[in-house]
Amino acid sequence: MLIKKASYLISCPDIKQCPAGDRPEYAFIGRSNVGKSSLINMLSGHQKLAKTSGTPGKTQLINFFEMESLKGSLQEGADRDKKGQTGPASKWFIVDLPGYGFAKVSQSQRNQWEQMIENYLRKRENLVNVFLLIDSRHEPQKIDLEFANKLGEWEIPFALTFTKADKETQKVVAKNVKSFLDAMRATWQFLPRNFVTSAEKKMGRDKILGFIEECNEA
Ligand code: GTP
Ligand code: MG
Repeated sequence: MLIKKASYLISCPDIKQCPAGDRPEYAFIGRSNVGKSSLINMLSGHQKLAKTSGTPGKTQLINFFEMESLKGSLQEGADRDKKGQTGPASKWFIVDLPGYGFAKVSQSQRNQWEQMIENYLRKRENLVNVFLLIDSRHEPQKIDLEFANKLGEWEIPFALTFTKADKETQKVVAKNVKSFLDAMRATWQFLPRNFVTSAEKKMGRDKILGFIEECNEA
């Protein structure tokens, strides 16, 4: 997939203000600071598209990005008339959500964010897939397993997306991914798809964009 356009559209405090759901949509969720905004920037190829920060709790609204992509495998900036590009542009949305589990806000603020996220996830009809981000440096965390279970209960399709893989050895990352999948086996008959990523090293980009392309065409 070749990203033709990636631009910020709008930030919404509530599902009611969200733009018309007239195209496939992909949302990114996970603990505060897990790397959601960084991953969106890496996928889009625009480092400043979504605001990132070393301080957890940066993203506080439902942020929409308009995407346009072409089928094919030409490098960014390459001659688009050459073979590799086929068909018309697909239009889709990326949604950057606030993180969950952020300790440094009041309980009422946290409840409000959780309600906003739940409403969005359960009511947004054009939502095709949620990327549930998990920090690959850690053993399975209860809060992430619980969130995966909630998505299951709500019958929302999701893919596990392990982040910051550049920060640990491959061996540690593989062990943590396996532990997470093993922990899910306790309650899940079928495991979701999983991706291992690094925003820093642009790892996992082709696989995730390929998956989005498949979903867009389905
Ligand atoms: P909130 O919006 O606050 O919930 O955070 P977020 O999940 O959007 O995280 P964000 O993308 O802002 O990244 C948090 C911090 O982790 C930043 O300092 C990023 O530079 C860093 N970071 C994110 N992804 C990676 C990665 O793949 N590798 C490394 N080394 N650092 C990363
Ligand atoms: Mg963010």
